[in-house]
Amino acid sequence: MQDLQTLESEIAANIKAATDLEQLEVIRIAELGKKGRVSLLMRELGKMSPDEKKEFGPKLNQLKNSLNDAVQDRKNSLEEEVLNIKLKSESVDISLSVVTKGQGSIHPISQVMDEVTEIFTEMGYSVAEGPEIEEDFYNFTALNIPEEHPARQMHDTFYFPEDEDGKRKVLRTHTSPVQIRTMMDGEPPYRIIAPGRTYRNDSDATHTPMFHQVEALVIDKDIHMGHLKWCIEEFCRKFFEIDNVKIRFRPSYFPFTEPSAEVDIGCSFKDGEVLIGEGDDWLEIMGCGMVNERVLENVNIDPSEYQGFAFGMGLDRIAMLKWGIPDLRDFFAADLRWLKHYGFQALDIPSLSTRSSSIKGSK
Ligand code: DAH
Repeated sequence: MQDLQTLESEIAANIKAATDLEQLEVIRIAELGKKGRVSLLMRELGKMSPDEKKEFGPKLNQLKNSLNDAVQDRKNSLEEEVLNIKLKSESVDISLSVVTKGQGSIHPISQVMDEVTEIFTEMGYSVAEGPEIEEDFYNFTALNIPEEHPARQMHDTFYFPEDEDGKRKVLRTHTSPVQIRTMMDGEPPYRIIAPGRTYRNDSDATHTPMFHQVEALVIDKDIHMGHLKWCIEEFCRKFFEIDNVKIRFRPSYFPFTEPSAEVDIGCSFKDGEVLIGEGDDWLEIMGCGMVNERVLENVNIDPSEYQGFAFGMGLDRIAMLKWGIPDLRDFFAADLRWLKHYGFQALDIPSLSTRSSSIKGSK
């Protein structure tokens, strides 16, 4: 009897002392395996008298069970230790701050695209895309600028050599062809913006051969100029972060809109710096209007059922205004000192959701 208890505590101590799973398995086989000490004792039972069997049988069984349990417990805790070591070695400390003062920075154009996209997607627009090497049809003809139309001259177009079929592709001169592609591709209503690169053969302090625009197109039933005005004002408030931004709509002409307007933003020029939201000066930021019925007909939309507005805005221009960048050519000079000064850190999130609610709150 005493022997069994001593044996149990001896084996239990060995089990507890096992430092890894292999060692535990060696102990288990040596004590509880077929040729282990406990199994040998079990075999002794066969030689015992019925009375002895009655006494030792249950005790041996209990010894075997409790040692099996001890092995399982030790196995569980050793496995947990292994897992913890593994988790620790694989863990990432997400509380560590990211090094944001590295070499790279976000170019103001990318930042402006992110911010503009954020503002319009929050208003329910989706983002559409089109190719930069564009067919004449999408860039001009479908937009109600037929061949020989004087408006073609205004665009300083880069033409490609003739294809086999005698047609010349162009580097798109504006993002307006994305309107056509969108409308030829789906069914109204539409509410899209199309930011992207555009090209014209022109270069001075305010023009570069490659520049950026964002196009907007809204087509639905009962859309009118009031919607257009609200949308542009709301955009300017959010983008320039100014509550009482002044906007002026000047009658203008674009072949693809009727009526058409150019939008100026109220500003002042002080010591060579532009300040948005104050003063009596004006700066043009975009062209807009109600989509010309001819354009709708070109894409098989019935103008008596659907109308809409469109606008096209220069992204480089609004970036210059927002951050006081004086010369457009510097955007594309790849000068690291300029990029360090005007660039944004990777984690400068275009935080418009919070900003727009603070604007609403301060009204
Ligand atoms: N595509 C015009 C340009 O590049 C800008 C523009 C004007 C776009 C009026 C529009 C619009 O969608 O309605 O000069």
